[in-house]
Amino acid sequence: MSPTFLNGETEDTLPSSLTRLVPADAAAITEAAQILRAGGLVAFPTETVYGLGGDATSDSAVAGIYAAKGRPSFNPLIAHVANLAAARQQAVFTPEAELLAQFFWPGPLTLVLPVAEGGTVCALARAGLETVALRVPGHETAHRLIAATGRPIAAPSANISGRMSPVAAAHVEEDLAGRIDMILDAGPCPVGVESTIISCVEDVPRLLRPGGISRNAIEIVLGRALAGRIAGDGAPTSPGQLASHYAPRARLRLAARELRTGEGGLDFGGIFPPAENVLDLSHSGDTTEAAANLFRHLRVLDSRGFDMIAVAPIPDTSLGEAINDRLARAAAERPSE
Ligand code: TXA
Ligand code: MG
Repeated sequence: MSPTFLNGETEDTLPSSLTRLVPADAAAITEAAQILRAGGLVAFPTETVYGLGGDATSDSAVAGIYAAKGRPSFNPLIAHVANLAAARQQAVFTPEAELLAQFFWPGPLTLVLPVAEGGTVCALARAGLETVALRVPGHETAHRLIAATGRPIAAPSANISGRMSPVAAAHVEEDLAGRIDMILDAGPCPVGVESTIISCVEDVPRLLRPGGISRNAIEIVLGRALAGRIAGDGAPTSPGQLASHYAPRARLRLAARELRTGEGGLDFGGIFPPAENVLDLSHSGDTTEAAANLFRHLRVLDSRGFDMIAVAPIPDTSLGEAINDRLARAAAERPSE
């Protein structure tokens, strides 16, 4: 299949800053791996959200990621690796980290671990920390891309910093066209919220970010409770510590039980009367389905120009914890815009 250029130009006339959006077939993945090995940037699908990938062993490639996202460089990135064996070359695994990796990889779990001697994830990707965040994604395209690249791939969500995470290739294009080399398109992301991040550097594993695997599932595997998230907005050792994150243009009114005039509605479980301005994350009240719909529905409502989006209450159980975390950040005061 021939690549689509985002502004319709032909290859000969392209400035190098143009971004190609291509279906994630074998040829495209091979080319994407070449781009990554040469220090370029490729957005690719994972089961959680689309990632903005660069060679995790290259400080200059990682600098390019920060530049493309407009992300403050003190925020460390997740290095995506092919399997547990590759992860063991990068980090020191405690027995509990090993257990979680065996159980949940490939999948939407990120482990923060001490850097191994000989680890190749560059200092900039770790934001200078002596720990590294690792994930083995479960999405086939992501897996094939990592294997073809033969190096860990650093990849934050493929959006401009502070904006909503992309769960479709078109969302990536909206934010990053002209800023990266290529977007691999493999359709919508099935999970829809980012990975759960667990730090295994202290005595008790700590939940740094709720995400695509519930706290409960992890605690069952560990056989004990996770340490809580550190409150306050201190140093960003955990994700999205900047007050405003995942921000739509519209303001959000959380835990709303009724719609006010002129508002858009983000429903859960059919609280609001069905209407043209209402989208339901899950009519049956299923948090897994709601997570998969979260960023897509928010984008649709945002694009309709509502000043305010009322969000129905969502229980904190299962993936509800991750959904409520993202909604709280999306509703937070913006620094300056
Ligand atoms: O599902 C996901 O995790 C997606 C897909 C693309 O894999 N990636 C993602 O990356 O959400 P990002 O960069 O948006 O979030 C990673 C978070 C960062 O905000 C950072 O705070 C945390 O992981 N992190 C990375 N390295 C860390 C470290 N050494 N210690 C503590 N937190 C770390
Ligand atoms: Mg992000």
